[in-house]
Amino acid sequence: YAPTPRATPAGRLQGLWLLARNPIESWTQAHYTQPILAGESPLFGYAVVVNHPPAIRRVLVDNAANYEKDPLQLRILKTGSSGGEGLFTATGDAWKRTRRTLSPLFTPRRVATFAGLMQNNAEARVDRWLKRRPGAILEIDREMTGVTYDILSTTLFSDAIAKDSTGFERALMQYLDAIGRVDPLDVFNAPAWLPRIASFRARAPLAFFTQTMMRIVEERQALIARDNASAPDDLLTALLRASDPETGIGLSTEDVIANLLTFIVAGHETTSRALTWTLYLLSQSPEWRARAEAEAANASPDPANWLDEMHTIRAVFEEAMRLYPPAPVLTREAQDFDRLGETNVPKGALVIISPWILHRHKLLWTQPEAFMPERFLPGARDAIDRFAYLPFGGGARVCIGARFAMLEAVIVLATILRRTRLTLVAGEEPKPLQRITLRPQGRLAMQVHKIG
Ligand code: HEM
Repeated sequence: YAPTPRATPAGRLQGLWLLARNPIESWTQAHYTQPILAGESPLFGYAVVVNHPPAIRRVLVDNAANYEKDPLQLRILKTGSSGGEGLFTATGDAWKRTRRTLSPLFTPRRVATFAGLMQNNAEARVDRWLKRRPGAILEIDREMTGVTYDILSTTLFSDAIAKDSTGFERALMQYLDAIGRVDPLDVFNAPAWLPRIASFRARAPLAFFTQTMMRIVEERQALIARDNASAPDDLLTALLRASDPETGIGLSTEDVIANLLTFIVAGHETTSRALTWTLYLLSQSPEWRARAEAEAANASPDPANWLDEMHTIRAVFEEAMRLYPPAPVLTREAQDFDRLGETNVPKGALVIISPWILHRHKLLWTQPEAFMPERFLPGARDAIDRFAYLPFGGGARVCIGARFAMLEAVIVLATILRRTRLTLVAGEEPKPLQRITLRPQGRLAMQVHKIG
């Protein structure tokens, strides 16, 4: 354990600058080599950065009741929200009830029913690419944002938002952009009632978004009341029919809308960034690209089975999420005093688990900076500590959409690899930038070539 020095005003300003620019650059060499670092942080009071798998296990599982999601994270993710509580930001009993209610929507069997839609959307996107002249340049980050948006909107709402999808998609992007920046007021611990810049910027897109969802939800409620059997079998219908298995109570309309927004915010950018990084890494590794292309070429007919059959593509995707975890930090607040190994954790301390550091930690990985998907092939994968690799978090609050995201990723990648080869445009080495999710700074241009 190594303490960090007390923050001076100049240190705070420097910290603010680093955080506003790119939070992942604020980690020091010690973070990548020490199991636990604790001390007064430049910006967030007493902080404990945990990179030690047994200690992470204690935070997320064994003593999880002592580590609630921290108020700052909750405020950022709830920016501009009015009424309704989504699963991501719910705490205590409300979280338990919501998690019990929503779990049946994400079982492997339920998720498999979306495989056909995932494939159709991916095929349609590749069709569009191949209509362009050979060697056309694509902004692959935008393309991945597009295909994951198409998949999410069709699995959530079927075609209910097709009518005004451009406005809806634009509003979503503006909202994410508004909440994705560190606010100076938060950094200086200004009281919660002082309005943040983000709330102003988020207000208009969120209002548009909520209104559109309200209309869709009301139309669907009316359809279910009129003719239950004819309602589309999508996540919206499932949310409206869901109830807590213990109490039989369903979700309020506000909670349905809050969870729709949660699924979009939590499930869209994360998946699209992970796909973008995977395509970038494959473009740099002829060996793994050839292996992944060969696997895609031999795909079995039913895409619902691909996640369990395509070991190479899955391993490539998992290794991409090791190097570029879409959610690069998880934070909690200690509700009471605890000890993590030899380190004291005072009540109120901010506990930071950073998959970005953890996945590149010198004590946990051989050649941490190298792209080596073989780490995740069957057999080898069992050697990875469950709490050394956390793209989807862990414990009771593990990502509810993990299976959905994995199936979607394998289907999108296999569809692309079966029909195209993407090469990086020279001079386009991407630099990772943290804005809630971890994305490449600027655009990622790639050339598309038809194969097969
Ligand atoms: C929670 C990552 C896709 C919905 C989480 C957490 C992580 C994560 C790290 C835990 C956060 C914490 O403990 O503080 C990812 C990544 C994804 C992905 C990397 C894609 C590659 C999805 C999808 C959905 C989704 C597709 C929904 C359709 C959620 C929800 C939670 C969550 C609702 C909160 C769960 C709870 O607190 O009970 N995700 N996610 N995620 N994710 Fe995902």
